[in-house]
Amino acid sequence: MCGIVAYIGEKEAYPILIKGLQRLEYRGYDSAGVALYDNDLNVYKRKGKVNDLIKFATNKNLKGSVGMGHTRWATHGEPDDINAHPHFSGNGNLAIIHNGIIENYALLKATLEKEGHKFASETDTEILVHFIEEIKEKSNVELEEAVRIALAKVIGAYAIVIMDKDNPDRLIAARKGSPLVIGIGDQEFFIGSDATPIVEHTKNVVYLNDREIAILDKKEGLTIKTIENEIQTPFIQKLDLEIEKLEKGGYDHYMLKEIFEQPRTISDCMRGRLNVSKSMVKVGGLKEYQNRIMNADRITIVACGTSWIAGLIGEYLIEDMARIPVEVEYASEFRYRNPVIGEKDVIIAISQSGETADTLAALELARSRGALTYGICNVVGSSMARVTDCGSYIHAGPEIGVASTKAFTGQVALLTLMALNLAHLRGTVSQSGYQQLISELSKIPDKVQKVLESNAKIRYIAEIFKDTPNALYLGRGYNFPIALEGALKLKEISYIHAEGYPAAEMKHGPIALIDENMPVIIIATNKSAHEKIVSNIQEVKARKGKVLAIVTEGDNVISEIADFIIEIPDTAEPLTPLLSVIPLQLLAYHIALMRGCNVDQPRNLAKSVTVE
Ligand code: G6P
Repeated sequence: MCGIVAYIGEKEAYPILIKGLQRLEYRGYDSAGVALYDNDLNVYKRKGKVNDLIKFATNKNLKGSVGMGHTRWATHGEPDDINAHPHFSGNGNLAIIHNGIIENYALLKATLEKEGHKFASETDTEILVHFIEEIKEKSNVELEEAVRIALAKVIGAYAIVIMDKDNPDRLIAARKGSPLVIGIGDQEFFIGSDATPIVEHTKNVVYLNDREIAILDKKEGLTIKTIENEIQTPFIQKLDLEIEKLEKGGYDHYMLKEIFEQPRTISDCMRGRLNVSKSMVKVGGLKEYQNRIMNADRITIVACGTSWIAGLIGEYLIEDMARIPVEVEYASEFRYRNPVIGEKDVIIAISQSGETADTLAALELARSRGALTYGICNVVGSSMARVTDCGSYIHAGPEIGVASTKAFTGQVALLTLMALNLAHLRGTVSQSGYQQLISELSKIPDKVQKVLESNAKIRYIAEIFKDTPNALYLGRGYNFPIALEGALKLKEISYIHAEGYPAAEMKHGPIALIDENMPVIIIATNKSAHEKIVSNIQEVKARKGKVLAIVTEGDNVISEIADFIIEIPDTAEPLTPLLSVIPLQLLAYHIALMRGCNVDQPRNLAKSVTVE
């Protein structure tokens, strides 16, 4: 959600801000804007992508060694030039950029209007900067003090950066609920809503905590204080992020690159955790609270989007192997429905970004009820990693494509390792079953590579299906969540209406939709219920539906009846999701591309959803 970048130092800020915005564009791309100080506060902003901003700003005064930039994912007010950030205060002395939502904006607005404030935009952000100005002017205090007083009265989530025409060698930043990272260079500072715009300038960073305000001053350096006015000692950390990993590396799109990276990212996730020669799985994150987790009454998995679907596979894996009851919940529902959670519960939160607002709030609720919290996330140093009792990184590297691919398989790989580790500890898996799964798991990266070799065939099938207005995805058992994920990928990036269903549920509704125009993608690699899935395919064919089946190599039965097949290598059934999802990622990618969609930045979506 909204990208923030800022610079203060001796260099020209504009090129740094624009490069930073391009790196952050995956967070939001409704509009973009910059503010630069050069004897005056110059703001340039435009609806659309960063490239639209660059065109607009050409030939304008782009000088200044202090500045800030923003890419927007609209919440309050439609995406247009006026609602784009930065926003000015009433007297034009202050400019602000903001990621988050000010929930009591209506009340603040009414109060400010009574004081004569007029607003140009429909945003909550503009109200916040007017509110800060009002306090600064009426109470005659420094900007940082006005920010502190204002934020104490604000309800909601924010990451903000403010510039002041009267004190141009200073940036004020603050956060609550939305992330902010400060990069520390040589006589210069950077601010980012994540580390991606900072990493090419410095590896030394400070992650701002909730309710902290940072003052970055050309002469005085960095000061951090809480909203309660207590000075904090900045905790400087080293970034573990390589710039090459943020580039497209020869691929046309980040999404394609990330799909093709999966043999390596799954390997990276398993490295140090899966030991084939010793036939052992050890997930380090489990160690500290091992007894509590293996003896939990119940595990509840909370997540959103694709991470929620990975959680569903986690439920199948953990119940199947470790025999611990598992529930999977949308974080947004969990947090507001007064769930029965206590000290004997373990909550596993899954998030690529580690910043999803609903997931973090669900964790907070679970912690307040005494549950043990375990985080599975990708972004090192993210909020989730800092608010959980324990957890594991999936080590997939930066995921830039908005539609999640390699993070999903990383999450599923990690959940598989956890399930196996817990099963072994609890004695719910036989030694031979354990060894066989370990051996099969170690072969998964090579088998993913093999599936990727079907890319040309998948492109050919995509050509046939690309104009469909609807698609139905069906799967049973471990492949049911994959049907959901396949449908989600297609709708996210190609805007085709798609639904995922348990194959046997088809006859309770979706079957009514099937005719000769309906593509039905059936993930049919199951060994345990093979004849059942064959019957489901027959039911679709009897109604003239067009069947694309994902099958295990050598499945002659389904090959005979399906219109198209894509084969995946044979593996143990609990591991099939790691293979069967790959053709569906590629299918969605090619269809979206053929329909002229922007696969890396699909409309209305954002990579990291930091508002509820
Ligand atoms: C957004 C993204 C999805 C992602 C979901 C959850 O909707 O577009 O790809 O699955 O958020 O994000 P998280 O970072 O918590 O996994």
